[in-house]
Amino acid sequence: MSQYIDSISHQYSTGERTVPPRTKEKWTGLSDLSHFLMGSDTMEDLAERAAKYIVDILSIDYCRIVLQEGNKYYCKASYSRTYPYSVHGNSREPVAAEAVYSRMLSHNASAKLYLAHQHLTTQEKISLGISPGEQSWFIPLRADTLQIGVLILGQKSGSDGELLDESSYYLVDLIADQLSNAFLRTQLNNRLESLSIETVLALSKTLETRDSPSSLHGKRMAIMSERLAAHYKFSVRETRELCWAALLHDIGKIGVEDVILRKPGPLDDDEWKVMKTHPEIGAQIVRGVSGLENLAPLILSHHERVDGRGYPLGLRRDEIPLGARILAVVDSYTAMTEGRPYRKARTHDEAITEIKKNSGEMYDPEVVSTFVELFDKESDIPL
Ligand SMILES: [Fe+2]
Repeated sequence: MSQYIDSISHQYSTGERTVPPRTKEKWTGLSDLSHFLMGSDTMEDLAERAAKYIVDILSIDYCRIVLQEGNKYYCKASYSRTYPYSVHGNSREPVAAEAVYSRMLSHNASAKLYLAHQHLTTQEKISLGISPGEQSWFIPLRADTLQIGVLILGQKSGSDGELLDESSYYLVDLIADQLSNAFLRTQLNNRLESLSIETVLALSKTLETRDSPSSLHGKRMAIMSERLAAHYKFSVRETRELCWAALLHDIGKIGVEDVILRKPGPLDDDEWKVMKTHPEIGAQIVRGVSGLENLAPLILSHHERVDGRGYPLGLRRDEIPLGARILAVVDSYTAMTEGRPYRKARTHDEAITEIKKNSGEMYDPEVVSTFVELFDKESDIPL
C-alpha cells in the first residue's frame, strides 16, 4: 500500500505547465468555482457548492468532500450526478476510511492523486463504500503543510460519464488547490467569528449590568429578528449580523448616565436629548470592534422612521437599511409587551394594533405586514 501515483507531481514539477487541449474549454468554469468559493459562509455551504460544481465541470458521477478535524474526518458534502443525490452535513467517516485518509495526508505521502482500484485493498474499498467496477480518485487537500481533507471523485460502473484521464489531472490539481485554500480561509474566518461572538456576549453582559430590561429585551428581539431574516432570505452572514444587532441595538445606552437610564418615570426634554444619543454611541462602539463593523448601520438606524421623523438622521423609507426597519418593528413590539416600571405591559393584540396603526409612518408597511403574518397569534411569539 505504499504505491503512490507520482505522475502528476512529476509532470508538473518540471516547470512545463502545458495545458492539455481537452481541458481548455473547461477553464472558464474555474473562475465560477473561485466565485462560489468566495461567496460561501460556512464549510458545509462551501463543500456543497464545490461538490456540485466539480461533478459538473469534470463530467464525473460523484464527488465527496471529506475534511479533517483533529484526528477525525467528516464528510461535509456528497453529490452524485446520476441519482441526482446530494448530501450536505457533517457525518463522521468510518474508522477504516479515516485510516486511509490519514495515510494519504501523512507528511511523507507526496502524491497528489490516488486511484482506488489500484491502490486500495478490497476491505478498504468496502469501508469507503466503493462498489466493484467503480472508478474512484482520491486527491489529498493541503494548504502548504496543513492537512485539510480529501477530495473523492468517482465514476460508477456502466456510467456514461467521462473517465478522468491524465489530461484532466491538471484541472483536478488546480481545483484541489483552490478548494484547500478556500477551506483554510473559511476555517480562519470561523475562528475570527467565534472571537466576535465572544465580544457580542461580553458587550451584551456589560449592557445587562447597566440596564437589565435591555438584556432580555435584546434576546427576544434576536429570536424574532431571525424569523424575519429567514422570510427575507437573508444570507447566513446577514442573519447573524441582524441577530447580533438585535442583541446590541441599545449598547449605546452604556454611555447614558444612570440618573437618566434608570429614571423610574418618563423623561423630560433634556433627558430625551441625552437618551437619543444612544444609537450613535452604539454605532461608534461596534465600529471600533473587529468583526462587528457591519452592525453599525443597523444600530445607528434602529430609531429611524419611514416618514423621516425618526432619529438620529431623519432618514426616510429605503434610506433606512432593511435590517434597521425590521429592528424598529421588533423593538417596539417587544418593548410594548414587556412593560416598564412606569408603564404597564400591553397585550399581544394591543401591541399588534399599535404597530399596524403606525405602519407607513413609524414603520415600513411591508415589514409590518410580514411581522403580523409571522406573529399573528400570541403563541407564535418565541419565549
Ligand atoms: Fe434603542
